[in-house]
Formats: sequence, structure tokens, C-alpha cells
Amino acid sequence: MTRVLVLNGPNLGRLGPREPHVYGSGTHAELAAECVRTGSGLGLRVEVRQTDSEGELIGWLHEAADAHTPVVLNPAAFTHYSFAVRDAVAMLSAPVIEVHLSNPHAREPFRHVSVVSPLVTATIAGLGFGSYRLALQAIAEAVADKAA
Ligand code: DQA
Repeated sequence: MTRVLVLNGPNLGRLGPREPHVYGSGTHAELAAECVRTGSGLGLRVEVRQTDSEGELIGWLHEAADAHTPVVLNPAAFTHYSFAVRDAVAMLSAPVIEVHLSNPHAREPFRHVSVVSPLVTATIAGLGFGSYRLALQAIAEAVADKAA
């Protein structure tokens, strides 16, 4: 089974109580369970992590780079300004899908810029938990294409 890391950035541990009109009412634990369930249906062993720390997120990206692990990445607010996260994403060699629960382009202007988007395989935004489901599907297809 291919291992996939789902990495969630700051404040995503607060899903549920956090601005449910923007992010939905599902909790991070529910999101994690759904990612694991979706992944197992696709033949992927999914591990979900969340951190509020830029350094910890960068460490996990280094781990993924060293192990050639596919990544589903929601950098949350780091998306818009962290060149350090961007530089860590640049080291990834397996597929990396940027995801967002909301559609940042339909929100405040500061959210319209993603410093990681130019480096990722694809970006999926605005579909709530569905953004993660589609990202895992895309990774499963990329893994199957590579094996064929
Ligand atoms: C987010 C969008 C970001 O702009 C925001 O800072 C987040 C969550 C999303 O999933 O919609 O924390 O990445």
C-alpha cells in the first residue's frame, strides 16, 4: 500500500467551531477519519497530521521529500506568505496536491496569492472535505499511472 501524508497547517485543528459558515461544521478528527477511509478504498495508507507550527510542518515536508511520499497539503494561512514552506514543497519529488476547504479566490484579496501553487501537481479548493477526497483520488491515479 502506498503511504500518503495529509498535512494540515495552522488553525485547521479548530475545524468545527472555527468559522463553520466558511469551513463547514466537521471537526479535524472527522476530516482525518474521512481521509483514512477514502484512502483505504483507494489502496492508500493515509496518515493525517495537523500543526500550528511552521517549523513542524517544514519538518514533515522534509520527511516526505526524503521518503518520496505523496502529500496532500493544506498549508492554511502559510499558503499566502510562507516562503519557507514554499521552499520545502520545492524539495518534494512525489505528487503533491494543494487543497483548501474554502475557495481562497472568492475571499479577501490577501488569500488570492498562493506561494506554493507554482510548485504543486494540482490545487483543489472550495469543496470542503471533498477537496481532500479528490486529492487522494488524484494521488491514487498518479501512483497507478506510474506503476503501469
Ligand atoms: C484555508 C484557506 C486559507 O486562506 C486559510 O488561512 C485557512 C484555511 C482553507 O482550507 O480554506 O486557514 O487553507
